[in-house]
Amino acid sequence: MRRKLAAGNWKMNGLVDDLSEIKALTEAHPDPDVDMLICAPATLIAQMAWARGTHALQIGGQTCHAERSGAHTGDISAPMLRDAGASHVLVGHSERRTDHGETDADVAGQAAAAHAAGLVAVICIGETLDQRESGHALTVITDQLRGSLPPGATAANTVIAYEPVWAIGTGKVPTTEQIGEVHGTLRATLRDLMKQAEGVRLLYGGSVKGSNAGEIFAVADVDGALVGGASLKAADFSPIVSALE
Ligand code: G3P
Repeated sequence: MRRKLAAGNWKMNGLVDDLSEIKALTEAHPDPDVDMLICAPATLIAQMAWARGTHALQIGGQTCHAERSGAHTGDISAPMLRDAGASHVLVGHSERRTDHGETDADVAGQAAAAHAAGLVAVICIGETLDQRESGHALTVITDQLRGSLPPGATAANTVIAYEPVWAIGTGKVPTTEQIGEVHGTLRATLRDLMKQAEGVRLLYGGSVKGSNAGEIFAVADVDGALVGGASLKAADFSPIVSALE
């Protein structure tokens, strides 16, 4: 039985004052039946860990370097994230792939570094609109999964997030049939790649809101969501958590 996961990605948003949202979120769900995760900007991880108090809210980074330490100005390593209080890290988000040219091989290296540091790697994949419209979505996401999953991935240390690029921040959401087709394909691909495929959680991400969460979560093999904009305010994220519970 896979435990559901409601994950938020604050992206490059959030100042210390915004930690009031963490207080509101944890108060709204004092003992959730699902896992809750916020992937915070690196500057806020330690203070967010303090702000959650004894709540089970998990905290993640948004990327990490493949090396443990070294001469990489401005980068952050997986052990640093762990040291700051993170238990998870996003790798391969489409904004990293686009803005920083990260390849599947880079993402696999980052995920391996996360695992070595004791972090859960949330590996993000997803097709562009062109790839969807030209009928290549399933090939693209399958190739991304094969290329981004490092050796040593297990159900405990890896989560996969399917985020179609064209659905991120646009208000456009694939049909439930399209989501089901992709998630079914991802599960089948995982069976080829690893022993614990049935235990790996598959998240959907892209314009998830309280109003559409219920129908998305009803799709087979959707084990939760990775939420951007609607994770910034507790009042928006809370209904998504409730839809999963
Ligand atoms: O990682 C989450 C994200 O890319 C989805 O963003 O704003 O469409 O929920 P949003």
